[in-house]
Amino acid sequence: MNIQHHVSLKPYNTFGIDVVAKHFVTISTLEDLKEVLTLKDYPNKLVLGGGSNILLTKDVDALVILIRLKGISVVSQTNDTVLVKANAGENWHEFVLWTLAQDFGGLENLSLIPGNVGTSPIQNIGAYGVELKDTFESCEALNIETHAITSFNKDACAFDYRNSIFKQHAKGQYIITSVTFKLSIKNHQLHTNYGAIKSELETRNIIEPTIQEVSKAVIAIRESKLPNPKEIGNSGSFFKNPVVDKSVYLDLLKQFPNAPSYPVSERLVKIPAGWLIETAGFKGKRLGNYGVHNNQALVLVNYGGASGFDILRLSEIIQTTIKRIFNITIESEVNIL
Ligand code: EPU
Repeated sequence: MNIQHHVSLKPYNTFGIDVVAKHFVTISTLEDLKEVLTLKDYPNKLVLGGGSNILLTKDVDALVILIRLKGISVVSQTNDTVLVKANAGENWHEFVLWTLAQDFGGLENLSLIPGNVGTSPIQNIGAYGVELKDTFESCEALNIETHAITSFNKDACAFDYRNSIFKQHAKGQYIITSVTFKLSIKNHQLHTNYGAIKSELETRNIIEPTIQEVSKAVIAIRESKLPNPKEIGNSGSFFKNPVVDKSVYLDLLKQFPNAPSYPVSERLVKIPAGWLIETAGFKGKRLGNYGVHNNQALVLVNYGGASGFDILRLSEIIQTTIKRIFNITIESEVNIL
Protein backbone atom coordinates (compact mmCIF):
# COMPACT_ATOMS: atom_id res chain seq x y z
CA MET A 1 0.00 0.00 0.00
CA ASN A 2 1.53 3.26 -1.14
CA ILE A 3 0.37 6.36 0.74
CA GLN A 4 1.23 9.53 -1.17
CA HIS A 5 1.15 13.09 0.09
CA HIS A 6 0.00 16.36 -1.45
CA VAL A 7 -1.73 14.82 -4.46
CA SER A 8 -3.88 16.76 -6.97
CA LEU A 9 -7.40 15.32 -7.20
CA LYS A 10 -7.97 16.76 -10.69
CA PRO A 11 -7.79 13.35 -12.45
CA TYR A 12 -10.12 11.80 -9.88
CA ASN A 13 -13.19 14.05 -10.16
CA THR A 14 -15.18 14.42 -13.40
CA PHE A 15 -15.66 18.16 -12.75
CA GLY A 16 -11.88 18.38 -13.18
CA ILE A 17 -11.44 20.61 -10.12
CA ASP A 18 -7.82 21.01 -9.12
CA VAL A 19 -7.74 20.67 -5.33
CA VAL A 20 -5.08 18.88 -3.31
CA ALA A 21 -5.49 15.87 -1.01
CA LYS A 22 -3.19 15.96 2.01
CA HIS A 23 -2.75 12.18 1.74
CA PHE A 24 -3.84 9.73 -0.96
CA VAL A 25 -3.95 5.97 -1.41
CA THR A 26 -5.30 3.67 -4.12
CA ILE A 27 -6.94 0.49 -2.80
CA SER A 28 -7.31 -2.64 -4.90
CA THR A 29 -7.90 -5.38 -2.31
CA LEU A 30 -10.33 -5.82 0.58
CA GLU A 31 -7.40 -6.59 2.91
CA ASP A 32 -5.76 -3.26 2.08
CA LEU A 33 -9.08 -1.49 2.57
CA LYS A 34 -9.49 -2.96 6.06
CA GLU A 35 -5.88 -2.16 6.90
CA VAL A 36 -6.04 1.45 5.73
CA LEU A 37 -9.10 2.06 7.91
CA THR A 38 -7.09 1.09 11.00
CA LEU A 39 -4.27 3.58 10.35
CA LYS A 40 -4.23 5.88 13.38
CA ASP A 41 -1.97 8.46 11.71
CA TYR A 42 -4.80 9.45 9.40
CA PRO A 43 -7.89 10.12 11.49
CA ASN A 44 -9.75 11.91 8.67
CA LYS A 45 -10.59 9.81 5.66
CA LEU A 46 -12.51 10.47 2.45
CA VAL A 47 -13.61 7.59 0.24
CA LEU A 48 -13.66 8.31 -3.49
CA GLY A 49 -15.15 6.09 -6.21
CA GLY A 50 -15.50 7.36 -9.77
CA GLY A 51 -15.55 11.00 -8.62
CA SER A 52 -18.53 11.66 -10.88
CA ASN A 53 -20.96 12.97 -8.31
CA ILE A 54 -18.82 15.29 -6.26
CA LEU A 55 -17.96 19.00 -6.28
CA LEU A 56 -14.70 19.71 -4.46
CA THR A 57 -14.70 23.29 -3.19
CA LYS A 58 -11.47 23.19 -1.15
CA ASP A 59 -8.31 21.18 -0.50
CA VAL A 60 -9.00 17.91 1.30
CA ASP A 61 -7.39 17.73 4.74
CA ALA A 62 -7.71 13.94 4.95
CA LEU A 63 -6.48 10.64 3.59
CA VAL A 64 -8.32 10.14 0.29
CA ILE A 65 -9.02 6.44 -0.29
CA LEU A 66 -9.52 5.73 -3.98
CA ILE A 67 -11.52 2.50 -4.38
CA ARG A 68 -10.22 0.40 -7.27
CA LEU A 69 -11.51 -3.09 -6.32
CA LYS A 70 -11.82 -4.89 -9.67
CA GLY A 71 -13.54 -8.03 -10.92
CA ILE A 72 -16.78 -9.20 -12.54
CA SER A 73 -18.18 -12.71 -12.08
CA VAL A 74 -21.30 -14.73 -12.77
CA VAL A 75 -22.64 -15.94 -9.42
CA SER A 76 -25.46 -18.20 -10.59
CA GLN A 77 -27.81 -18.74 -13.48
CA THR A 78 -31.36 -20.03 -14.09
CA ASN A 79 -33.14 -20.57 -17.41
CA ASP A 80 -34.11 -16.91 -17.65
CA THR A 81 -31.85 -14.89 -15.40
CA VAL A 82 -28.27 -14.55 -14.25
CA LEU A 83 -26.78 -13.04 -11.12
CA VAL A 84 -23.68 -10.99 -11.92
CA LYS A 85 -21.42 -9.56 -9.24
CA ALA A 86 -19.16 -6.60 -9.99
CA ASN A 87 -16.63 -5.18 -7.58
CA ALA A 88 -16.94 -1.55 -6.56
CA GLY A 89 -14.00 -0.18 -8.54
CA GLU A 90 -15.26 -1.33 -11.95
CA ASN A 91 -16.12 1.57 -14.24
CA TRP A 92 -19.92 1.64 -14.63
CA HIS A 93 -20.11 1.97 -18.42
CA GLU A 94 -17.42 -0.65 -19.04
CA PHE A 95 -19.40 -3.00 -16.81
CA VAL A 96 -22.60 -2.27 -18.78
CA LEU A 97 -20.73 -3.00 -22.04
CA TRP A 98 -19.48 -6.28 -20.54
CA THR A 99 -23.06 -7.34 -19.68
CA LEU A 100 -24.21 -6.47 -23.23
CA ALA A 101 -21.33 -8.46 -24.74
CA GLN A 102 -22.64 -11.51 -22.82
CA ASP A 103 -26.18 -10.68 -24.06
CA PHE A 104 -27.35 -10.08 -20.48
CA GLY A 105 -30.26 -7.62 -20.43
CA GLY A 106 -31.36 -4.95 -17.96
CA LEU A 107 -28.66 -2.31 -17.88
CA GLU A 108 -28.82 -1.09 -21.50
CA ASN A 109 -30.74 2.13 -20.66
CA LEU A 110 -28.07 2.99 -18.10
CA SER A 111 -25.29 3.03 -20.72
CA LEU A 112 -22.66 5.78 -20.56
CA ILE A 113 -23.49 6.97 -17.04
CA PRO A 114 -20.21 8.17 -15.54
CA GLY A 115 -18.92 6.74 -12.26
CA ASN A 116 -18.15 3.35 -10.78
CA VAL A 117 -20.22 0.30 -9.86
CA GLY A 118 -19.67 0.82 -6.12
CA THR A 119 -21.28 4.24 -6.03
CA SER A 120 -24.20 3.39 -8.32
CA PRO A 121 -26.56 2.24 -5.51
CA ILE A 122 -25.89 5.29 -3.32
CA GLN A 123 -28.01 7.56 -5.47
CA ASN A 124 -29.87 4.78 -7.33
CA ILE A 125 -28.60 5.99 -10.70
CA GLY A 126 -31.26 6.25 -13.38
CA ALA A 127 -31.91 7.28 -16.95
CA TYR A 128 -34.50 6.84 -19.71
CA GLY A 129 -37.16 5.17 -17.62
CA VAL A 130 -34.88 2.71 -15.78
CA GLU A 131 -33.26 2.92 -12.36
CA LEU A 132 -30.51 0.83 -10.82
CA LYS A 133 -33.03 -0.64 -8.35
CA ASP A 134 -34.83 -2.41 -11.24
CA THR A 135 -31.98 -4.93 -11.65
CA PHE A 136 -30.31 -4.60 -8.24
CA GLU A 137 -30.15 -7.87 -6.30
CA SER A 138 -27.84 -7.00 -3.38
CA CYS A 139 -24.64 -5.27 -2.44
CA GLU A 140 -21.87 -5.92 0.04
CA ALA A 141 -20.55 -3.10 2.16
CA LEU A 142 -17.76 -2.77 4.69
CA ASN A 143 -18.74 -1.17 7.97
CA ILE A 144 -16.17 1.59 8.52
CA GLU A 145 -16.22 1.16 12.33
CA THR A 146 -16.39 -2.62 12.77
CA HIS A 147 -14.87 -3.71 9.41
CA ALA A 148 -17.59 -6.35 9.14
CA ILE A 149 -18.99 -6.98 5.67
CA THR A 150 -22.78 -6.68 5.53
CA SER A 151 -25.01 -7.72 2.65
CA PHE A 152 -27.88 -5.36 1.79
CA ASN A 153 -30.81 -6.68 -0.23
CA LYS A 154 -33.05 -4.40 -2.25
CA ASP A 155 -35.49 -3.66 0.59
CA ALA A 156 -32.67 -2.86 2.99
CA CYS A 157 -31.36 -0.24 0.55
CA ALA A 158 -34.65 1.75 0.66
CA PHE A 159 -34.20 2.96 -2.91
CA ASP A 160 -36.03 6.05 -4.07
CA TYR A 161 -35.53 8.68 -6.79
CA ARG A 162 -31.78 9.48 -6.63
CA ASN A 163 -31.81 8.24 -3.05
CA SER A 164 -31.04 5.22 -0.84
CA ILE A 165 -30.18 4.29 2.74
CA PHE A 166 -26.55 5.14 1.91
CA LYS A 167 -27.55 8.81 1.56
CA GLN A 168 -29.80 8.65 4.65
CA HIS A 169 -29.47 6.57 7.87
CA ALA A 170 -26.34 4.72 6.73
CA LYS A 171 -24.57 7.79 5.37
CA GLY A 172 -20.81 7.70 6.00
CA GLN A 173 -21.01 4.33 7.76
CA TYR A 174 -20.23 1.92 4.91
CA ILE A 175 -18.00 1.46 1.91
CA ILE A 176 -19.79 -0.53 -0.80
CA THR A 177 -17.38 -3.21 -2.01
CA SER A 178 -19.48 -5.04 -4.62
CA VAL A 179 -22.90 -5.00 -6.24
CA THR A 180 -24.86 -7.99 -7.59
CA PHE A 181 -27.39 -7.55 -10.39
CA LYS A 182 -30.15 -9.84 -11.62
CA LEU A 183 -30.11 -9.68 -15.42
CA SER A 184 -32.13 -11.44 -18.11
CA ILE A 185 -30.57 -13.98 -20.45
CA LYS A 186 -33.61 -14.27 -22.74
CA ASN A 187 -36.97 -12.54 -23.28
CA HIS A 188 -35.32 -9.24 -22.44
CA GLN A 189 -37.77 -6.63 -21.17
CA LEU A 190 -37.05 -3.49 -23.18
CA HIS A 191 -37.83 0.00 -21.91
CA THR A 192 -38.10 2.04 -25.07
CA ASN A 193 -41.14 4.21 -24.30
CA TYR A 194 -39.08 7.20 -23.20
CA GLY A 195 -39.60 9.80 -25.95
CA ALA A 196 -35.94 10.31 -26.82
CA ILE A 197 -35.28 6.55 -27.19
CA LYS A 198 -38.39 6.05 -29.32
CA SER A 199 -37.39 8.78 -31.76
CA GLU A 200 -33.72 7.71 -31.85
CA LEU A 201 -34.77 4.13 -32.77
CA GLU A 202 -37.21 5.49 -35.38
CA THR A 203 -34.45 7.56 -36.95
CA ARG A 204 -32.41 4.37 -37.16
CA ASN A 205 -35.38 2.46 -38.68
CA ILE A 206 -35.22 -0.10 -35.88
CA ILE A 207 -38.60 -1.64 -35.05
CA GLU A 208 -37.63 -4.58 -32.84
CA PRO A 209 -34.44 -3.47 -31.16
CA THR A 210 -31.96 -5.73 -29.41
CA ILE A 211 -30.57 -4.70 -26.02
CA GLN A 212 -27.35 -3.73 -27.81
CA GLU A 213 -29.31 -1.44 -30.17
CA VAL A 214 -31.11 0.18 -27.23
CA SER A 215 -27.72 0.81 -25.63
CA LYS A 216 -26.40 2.38 -28.86
CA ALA A 217 -29.48 4.65 -29.02
CA VAL A 218 -28.98 5.72 -25.39
CA ILE A 219 -25.30 6.41 -26.05
CA ALA A 220 -26.21 8.58 -29.06
CA ILE A 221 -28.80 10.55 -27.03
CA ARG A 222 -26.41 11.10 -24.13
CA GLU A 223 -23.58 12.14 -26.45
CA SER A 224 -25.84 14.70 -28.12
CA LYS A 225 -27.12 16.24 -24.88
CA LEU A 226 -24.55 15.71 -22.19
CA PRO A 227 -20.94 16.92 -22.24
CA ASN A 228 -18.22 14.25 -22.14
CA PRO A 229 -16.39 14.80 -18.82
CA LYS A 230 -13.11 13.94 -20.56
CA GLU A 231 -13.58 17.08 -22.68
CA ILE A 232 -15.62 19.42 -20.46
CA GLY A 233 -15.65 18.97 -16.69
CA ASN A 234 -19.10 18.19 -15.30
CA SER A 235 -20.90 15.79 -13.05
CA GLY A 236 -24.09 15.10 -15.01
CA SER A 237 -27.27 16.53 -13.56
CA PHE A 238 -26.24 19.00 -10.88
CA PHE A 239 -29.78 19.22 -9.47
CA LYS A 240 -32.53 16.71 -8.78
CA ASN A 241 -35.87 17.18 -10.50
CA PRO A 242 -38.11 18.62 -7.76
CA VAL A 243 -41.05 16.50 -6.64
CA VAL A 244 -43.91 18.82 -5.66
CA ASP A 245 -47.52 18.71 -4.60
CA LYS A 246 -49.96 18.84 -7.53
CA SER A 247 -51.33 22.14 -6.18
CA VAL A 248 -47.87 23.71 -6.60
CA TYR A 249 -47.81 22.51 -10.21
CA LEU A 250 -51.33 23.85 -10.86
CA ASP A 251 -50.18 27.25 -9.55
CA LEU A 252 -47.17 27.07 -11.86
CA LEU A 253 -49.44 26.33 -14.85
CA LYS A 254 -51.38 29.57 -14.26
CA GLN A 255 -48.22 31.53 -15.03
CA PHE A 256 -46.49 29.03 -17.34
CA PRO A 257 -49.17 27.03 -19.21
CA ASN A 258 -46.51 24.91 -20.97
CA ALA A 259 -44.68 23.78 -17.83
CA PRO A 260 -43.89 20.04 -18.20
CA SER A 261 -44.37 17.47 -15.44
CA TYR A 262 -44.27 13.71 -14.84
CA PRO A 263 -46.70 11.93 -12.51
CA VAL A 264 -45.14 10.47 -9.34
CA SER A 265 -48.23 9.51 -7.29
CA GLU A 266 -51.85 10.58 -6.78
CA ARG A 267 -50.66 13.68 -4.98
CA LEU A 268 -47.19 14.39 -6.36
CA VAL A 269 -45.59 15.38 -9.67
CA LYS A 270 -41.99 15.78 -10.77
CA ILE A 271 -41.02 18.94 -12.64
CA PRO A 272 -37.91 18.84 -14.85
CA ALA A 273 -35.39 21.15 -13.18
CA GLY A 274 -33.82 21.58 -16.64
CA TRP A 275 -37.02 23.30 -17.79
CA LEU A 276 -37.07 25.59 -14.72
CA ILE A 277 -33.41 26.55 -15.24
CA GLU A 278 -33.85 27.10 -18.98
CA THR A 279 -37.01 29.16 -18.46
CA ALA A 280 -35.15 31.27 -15.89
CA GLY A 281 -32.67 32.09 -18.66
CA PHE A 282 -29.58 30.20 -17.48
CA LYS A 283 -29.19 27.64 -20.28
CA GLY A 284 -25.86 28.12 -22.07
CA LYS A 285 -24.85 31.00 -19.75
CA ARG A 286 -21.07 31.16 -19.46
CA LEU A 287 -19.16 33.05 -16.77
CA GLY A 288 -15.56 32.86 -17.90
CA ASN A 289 -14.38 29.29 -17.44
CA TYR A 290 -17.59 27.80 -16.04
CA GLY A 291 -21.31 27.91 -16.72
CA VAL A 292 -24.53 26.08 -17.60
CA HIS A 293 -24.36 23.57 -20.47
CA ASN A 294 -25.79 24.59 -23.87
CA ASN A 295 -27.81 21.42 -24.49
CA GLN A 296 -29.01 20.46 -21.01
CA ALA A 297 -29.62 23.15 -18.40
CA LEU A 298 -29.35 20.65 -15.52
CA VAL A 299 -25.62 20.29 -16.13
CA LEU A 300 -23.09 22.79 -14.77
CA VAL A 301 -19.74 22.74 -16.54
CA ASN A 302 -16.09 23.60 -15.90
CA TYR A 303 -14.55 24.71 -19.20
CA GLY A 304 -11.11 24.38 -17.58
CA GLY A 305 -9.54 25.98 -14.53
CA ALA A 306 -12.74 26.89 -12.65
CA SER A 307 -12.77 26.46 -8.89
CA GLY A 308 -15.33 24.36 -7.09
CA PHE A 309 -16.30 27.48 -5.19
CA ASP A 310 -17.17 29.28 -8.49
CA ILE A 311 -19.47 26.43 -9.47
CA LEU A 312 -21.01 26.24 -6.01
CA ARG A 313 -21.77 29.99 -6.13
CA LEU A 314 -23.37 29.63 -9.59
CA SER A 315 -25.51 26.74 -8.32
CA GLU A 316 -26.69 28.88 -5.39
CA ILE A 317 -27.60 31.76 -7.70
CA ILE A 318 -29.63 29.33 -9.83
CA GLN A 319 -31.39 27.92 -6.75
CA THR A 320 -32.34 31.38 -5.40
CA THR A 321 -33.53 32.55 -8.82
CA ILE A 322 -35.70 29.45 -9.31
CA LYS A 323 -37.18 29.96 -5.84
CA ARG A 324 -37.90 33.62 -6.62
CA ILE A 325 -39.47 33.05 -10.05
CA PHE A 326 -41.34 29.78 -9.50
CA ASN A 327 -41.46 29.44 -5.70
CA ILE A 328 -39.95 25.95 -6.12
CA THR A 329 -36.86 24.67 -4.30
CA ILE A 330 -34.34 22.66 -6.30
CA GLU A 331 -31.76 20.58 -4.44
CA SER A 332 -28.32 19.66 -5.67
CA GLU A 333 -27.83 16.03 -6.64
CA VAL A 334 -24.08 16.31 -6.41
CA ASN A 335 -22.23 15.95 -3.08
CA ILE A 336 -20.55 19.22 -2.19
CA LEU A 337 -17.37 18.98 -0.18
N1 EPU B 1 -35.73 20.33 -20.19
C1 EPU B 1 -35.70 21.64 -20.64
N2 EPU B 1 -34.48 22.23 -20.81
C2 EPU B 1 -33.32 21.58 -20.58
C3 EPU B 1 -33.35 20.26 -20.13
C4 EPU B 1 -34.56 19.65 -19.94
O1 EPU B 1 -36.72 22.27 -20.86
O2 EPU B 1 -32.26 22.21 -20.77
C5 EPU B 1 -37.03 19.68 -19.98
C6 EPU B 1 -37.75 19.26 -21.23
O3 EPU B 1 -39.12 19.45 -20.99
C7 EPU B 1 -37.49 17.79 -21.35
C8 EPU B 1 -37.47 17.39 -19.89
O4 EPU B 1 -36.87 18.51 -19.23
O5 EPU B 1 -38.47 17.13 -22.05
C9 EPU B 1 -36.67 16.15 -19.58
O6 EPU B 1 -35.33 16.30 -20.03
P1 EPU B 1 -34.34 15.04 -20.13
O7 EPU B 1 -35.00 13.95 -20.87
O8 EPU B 1 -33.03 15.52 -20.61
O9 EPU B 1 -34.27 14.53 -18.63
P2 EPU B 1 -34.03 15.29 -17.25
O10 EPU B 1 -35.25 15.10 -16.40
O11 EPU B 1 -33.57 16.67 -17.50
C10 EPU B 1 -33.15 13.13 -16.06
C11 EPU B 1 -31.94 12.70 -15.27
C12 EPU B 1 -30.73 12.47 -16.17
C13 EPU B 1 -31.12 11.40 -17.18
C14 EPU B 1 -32.34 11.90 -17.98
C15 EPU B 1 -32.85 10.88 -18.96
C16 EPU B 1 -32.27 13.73 -13.09
C17 EPU B 1 -31.78 14.74 -12.10
N3 EPU B 1 -31.63 13.70 -14.25
O12 EPU B 1 -32.84 14.41 -16.63
O13 EPU B 1 -29.69 11.97 -15.37
O14 EPU B 1 -30.05 11.13 -18.07
O15 EPU B 1 -33.43 12.17 -17.05
O16 EPU B 1 -33.53 9.89 -18.29
O17 EPU B 1 -33.20 12.98 -12.79
C18 EPU B 1 -27.69 12.45 -14.17
O18 EPU B 1 -28.27 12.09 -13.16
O19 EPU B 1 -26.49 12.84 -14.14
C19 EPU B 1 -28.41 12.48 -15.44
C20 EPU B 1 -27.87 12.97 -16.55
